[in-house]
Amino acid sequence: MWLLALVVAYLIGSIPTAYVVGRYLYGFDIRRRGSGNVGATNTLRTMGTIPGLVVLGVDALKGVLAVLLGQALGGPVLVILAALMAIVGHNWSIFLEFQGGRGVATTAGALLAMAPLALFWAFLIWLAVVIFSRYISLGSIVAAAVAPFLVIYFHRPWPYVLFTFVAAALVIYRHRPNIKRLLAGTEHKLGERS
Ligand code: G3P
Repeated sequence: MWLLALVVAYLIGSIPTAYVVGRYLYGFDIRRRGSGNVGATNTLRTMGTIPGLVVLGVDALKGVLAVLLGQALGGPVLVILAALMAIVGHNWSIFLEFQGGRGVATTAGALLAMAPLALFWAFLIWLAVVIFSRYISLGSIVAAAVAPFLVIYFHRPWPYVLFTFVAAALVIYRHRPNIKRLLAGTEHKLGERS
């Protein structure tokens, strides 16, 4: 049952929302536009606000669904494994030759179900960094770095703390190209379309 839950969570995470919207509504491959990332930020950048918000919502829903699946079929350990599998699917999608996104929205969806107050504060930190720096990627990196400590602060169960450390590490790992661009001063700023 666990194996089935983890495979289903991976397949849910693998649904490449940004790619589907780009390919079928706008007629291009998002992997060849903007940052090339298959995520909500690159959708916002290359297709506009509404598609960006739709992708954000669907990608977050993948994280929520993985948590619900884990809860239905097991306890907290299955919950965090299913959530991680959804993030792995999002980042390395079986439908996109194992390409994908950075896992921010899917992680946020999982945290919405596991630690909503921690997510709320992480979101405020993300928003503040984005407003002041105009770099969405920097906001994601900083929010990911802080999120595990917020989950501890709000006394969530230890598996959720562990999950958030691993998910945050994955988010930061997937931002390696952004970190290089930030250091080189070539990162895309919010509002710059490509
Ligand atoms: O959530 C992803 C965001 O932090 C960066 O996206 O497209 O600028 O690499 P992007």
